[in-house]
Parts: sequence; structure tokens; C-alpha cells
Amino acid sequence: MAETNSKRFHEKDREDRIRTVKEFSGLSEDEAEILRGNDGISFGEADHMVENVIGTMAFPLGIGTNFRINGRDYLVPMVIEESSVIAAASKAAKIARKHGGFSMESDESYSIGQIQVVGVNPRTAIPKVLRASKTILKLANSKSKTLSQMKKGAKKVTCKRLETKSGPMLIVELLIDVGDAMGANVTNTMCEGVAPLIEEITGGRVILRILSNYSTRRLVRGKAVFDKEEVGGSKVVADIIHAYNFAANDPYRAVTHNKGVMNGIIAVANATGQDTRAMEAAAHAFASKGGIYTSLTTWKKDKAGNLVGSIEVPMPVGIVGGIINVHPMIRVCLKILGVKSAGELGCVIGAVGLAQNFSAIRALASEGIQKGHMRLHAKNIAISAGVPKEKVHEVAQKMIQENNVSVGRAREMLESGN
Ligand code: MEV
Repeated sequence: MAETNSKRFHEKDREDRIRTVKEFSGLSEDEAEILRGNDGISFGEADHMVENVIGTMAFPLGIGTNFRINGRDYLVPMVIEESSVIAAASKAAKIARKHGGFSMESDESYSIGQIQVVGVNPRTAIPKVLRASKTILKLANSKSKTLSQMKKGAKKVTCKRLETKSGPMLIVELLIDVGDAMGANVTNTMCEGVAPLIEEITGGRVILRILSNYSTRRLVRGKAVFDKEEVGGSKVVADIIHAYNFAANDPYRAVTHNKGVMNGIIAVANATGQDTRAMEAAAHAFASKGGIYTSLTTWKKDKAGNLVGSIEVPMPVGIVGGIINVHPMIRVCLKILGVKSAGELGCVIGAVGLAQNFSAIRALASEGIQKGHMRLHAKNIAISAGVPKEKVHEVAQKMIQENNVSVGRAREMLESGN
């Protein structure tokens, strides 16, 4: 959604923001009430989710604005504790709109399940497994009625041989179309389900039966054009490209560069109930696919001198199953997004990652990040200095004007009463 209303989203009060989101996404009053309820999850629900529960803990849920992705406008729920991330993503999305927003595409959602077999000669076992592919797939698919009914499920069996310090081993892999689910559970169930058959076929012993989180068969990729003038002119464009080439050639910088990408990706993943550890693990492995850790994004100039950013990243996400079915706030966040498939969610998440990276390297390549960051962080600083709620805004504004955002200065203002 473009910020065309008289008051911009960040200038509205909470109720007005909720009203805007409600109208845009067609939320019911009950759903709006879940947003007002702050964490959307009761102790009882939490107690069923994990072990030894003593409470629940809320994080800020904000809305990324201005996102236009594949010709559609989105309001993007983002859950993150770091100030400036949501503002930065929204600003980037606003700039990208001028040239049509983000063009994104996603692969089909294939997960990979691995079955480790020892005590075999892989050379002779591999042809036996491949010959029995049909039987293995049939058995795997009998473990999920839902996927089978949707004509999804296990599609292919592949094998690889590993030479290791504990001897040769055969790794049988199942390629599984998991549809709109993240698919970890169904993948593990299928792997465990076919393990006895694999032992029978190979005469070996199966040890591990588990999904691979290196989700190379469910990538999201896309790009956006950032107008030269809005970026800050051709020097800033050139410096952003220098910044990118730094990340592209130095793992020490690339990790930080990608952390900026993940600021956006994980914020949306948190809001939509994804397994963020799986996403992080896959993204960083993917960044090292060429043997050296490098940037998940690329940046270059087009003929007109505009900045063109692109991203490619594994996207093991789902819109059904797991916590999504049980967490009311997550269901509302998915409704706010209005995504109809895991692929569409992946496209949004990838676009936010690219937007976030743009804003970070643009700030770094021009004024530096501290100015904007501290401006947005000033309220947190005032709160941590003990400034009462009704004075936080005033103290924060003063510190920004003085260009001195610090706990010490906030305390001084508090003590001197101005
Ligand atoms: C801070 O959370 C993220 C950045 O460090 C990313 C970057 O350096 O590109 C600003």
C-alpha cells in the first residue's frame, strides 16, 4: 500500500493504524481485537507448544508499508526488536515503487529428506535403490494423505556416496513437493517411513532419517530498480555498488551485509510463524555455495544510471501447519499479508530482505547508519534512562535536535526538568 493518505502510516496513532490495516486487509473486528490483545497467545496455548512454560513474551509487531510486489500492494507485518528496520524497509519500498516495485519469483516448494545408510558398498547399493524408486516413493507417499490427495508429496529418489573417516556411506535423498507447508514434519515422517525398506533393499543399516535444511530446491529470487535521483544521485549509486563489491569479496563484510538482509527476512518470518533457524541456516549455507561466503544480493547500475538490486535466497516457508494453525496473531498477520501460497509469502519475504539491504547499504555508503538509527533509537534510550512515558517523545526530540542521543543526556534532562 502506498502512503497516500493525509497522515502517513507512522504518523497515525495505534487505533488509526489498526483501522488502516483492517480496511486494507479486510480484517474482522475479532481479528482487529487480536491485534489489540498484544501477544495473541494464552498461557494455556503456550504450554501446549513447548515445555516447562512459565509465561509468554511479546515483541513489537509493526507494518512495513509501500511494498509493491509483482504488481500487488502489500502491508507487511514485521516482528523485530531492532529499531529502524521497519522504517528502513518501508522507505526502500517507497523508492522501489517508482519503477514498479519488486519483481519476484519462487521455485516450487521441494524439501529434501536424507536417509543415511552405513555398512554397504554404495557402488552396488545405489543401482538397487534407484531401481526400487517407484516402491520407495509409493511407501513415502502413503505417509501423507494430504499431500497425495493434492498430487504433491515425494517425487524423486536420488543417491549419493560419501567417503568419510568412519567409512563409505550411502545417502538416499527424497525430493518432496511439500506444497504450502514448510514441510519438516512430513519430510521426517517419510524418511523414517521408508528407512526399513531402504535397509531391506541395500542390506545396510540406516542411522539418520531427517530433512536437510539446506533448502536449495525452494529458492526465491527477484529484483527492484531504485531511481538514481531518489537514491541520492549518481555518486551515492556508485558508492552503493562499491559497498556491494566489498561484501561480494570479503566474508567479514558479507556476513554483516547479509545480516542486514536477514533483518528484513526474519522480521516477516517472525510475524508469519516461520522456522527462522531453518531460514538462517539455509541462507548462510547458500551464501557460501561457491566455496567462499559472499553477498546474498547483487547491486549494479542500469543504462539510465539507476540502481538495480537483486536477491536469491532459500525460502523454506509455509502458510499451513505448525504454529500457524495455533497462534491467533500469526493467523492475523498472514491475513494482513493476504498471501495465497507459500511461494507468494516467499516472494514477499525476499522483497523485504532486498529492501532492507538497500536501505542499510545506502545509509552506510552516504551519511552512515548511526544518524538515522539513533534518531529512531532515541525513544528507547529515553525509556532506558527512566524518562516517564508522557515525556519520552519530548526528551527524544530534544536529544535528536542536539545530536546527542545518549542515556546520560536523557538523565540530565530528566533531572533538570527540561
Ligand atoms: C544492522 O542491524 C545491519 C547493518 O549492519 C547491515 C549492513 O551493515 O549492511 C546495518
